[in-house]
Amino acid sequence: MRIRSWQNNAMPIQQPSRVPNFLYGTAWKEDRTQALTELALRMGFRGIDTANQRRHYFEAGVGQGLAAAYRQGVVVRADIFLQTKFTYRRGQDHQLPYDPAASLSVQVAQSLASSLEHLGTDYVDSYVLHGPSSPYDWAAADAEVWEAMRKERDAGRTRLLGVSNVSLRHLEQMEAAHSEHPAFVQNRCFARLGWDRDVRLFCRERGIIYQGFSLLTANMEVVHDSLIVAVAARLNATPAQTVFAFARAAGILPLTGTSNPEHMKQDLTSLGFVLPPDAVRAIETLAG
Ligand SMILES: NC(=O)c1ccc[n+]([C@@H]2O[C@H](COP(=O)([O-])OP(=O)(O)OC[C@H]3O[C@@H](n4cnc5c(N)ncnc54)[C@H](OP(=O)(O)O)[C@@H]3O)[C@@H](O)[C@H]2O)c1
Repeated sequence: MRIRSWQNNAMPIQQPSRVPNFLYGTAWKEDRTQALTELALRMGFRGIDTANQRRHYFEAGVGQGLAAAYRQGVVVRADIFLQTKFTYRRGQDHQLPYDPAASLSVQVAQSLASSLEHLGTDYVDSYVLHGPSSPYDWAAADAEVWEAMRKERDAGRTRLLGVSNVSLRHLEQMEAAHSEHPAFVQNRCFARLGWDRDVRLFCRERGIIYQGFSLLTANMEVVHDSLIVAVAARLNATPAQTVFAFARAAGILPLTGTSNPEHMKQDLTSLGFVLPPDAVRAIETLAG
């Protein structure tokens, strides 16, 4: 892995390489997880997002989908970007991937070992803290987990690290507490917050890749706004495709969790649409 200094404040940042321009999300697919993961790879997705959180994700099903795709020669491991997450006890149900009595550092190691087994690999491309322990502050627990994640990275079990569901305050406190930035921030991207403007700016200034989820589902009114509909008509695109094309133009790495093969195709082709700069600016400030 290459590490390089980031010019902004001389903190080292992991240099992401081979990050695809769209991530396929595997949450809430249950017994369709294997088939949909395999289908997404067949349709052309090369980035897969999951979590070792059985409550919302069936990570072993993702592994079965990957195995089927490998068997049928659709992809090889090196072609794909695999991302999974560590989830605190309070975000889990009874199906835990670690011993809840163990220290957080041990829980991280156990959870990642279980992810690697589920996914049939000896490394993931990105390992993400699913969310900080407190909605307000980057707490001591988060610091312990982050340092344990760094150890996993240094041992080669993940190439890169990320954090999810974070506020600007979390990121500022994290920056003050640690010597290394995450490679990724993954957040729900609300149009009414300027598409998470403050966090995106923090990320942009530090070379952190911002991953946006719920781009459609968190912003249904905006998706059907007359501005988006008009831009879509100009591009001969659907409103959903226009939102994804906007996201890329605004520097957001989008996730989609579609279960529909036609939508998979549309989502991937959306990145070929080029929005004029005035349209990007207008959509950026459409709701906040
Ligand atoms: N870090 C976190 O805490 C967190 C939280 C939530 C999600 N995620 C990740 O993000 C992934 C995506 O979640 P999400 O919330 O963005 O999406 P999602 O809940 O999976 O929903 C996507 C929605 O958009 C629709 N859609 C997608 N493409 C479309 C198109 N071209 N035209 C019309 N409708 C379209 C889908 O409908 P169809 O199925 O009918 O296409 C679906 O209703 C998850 O699977 C998970 O991996 C992470």
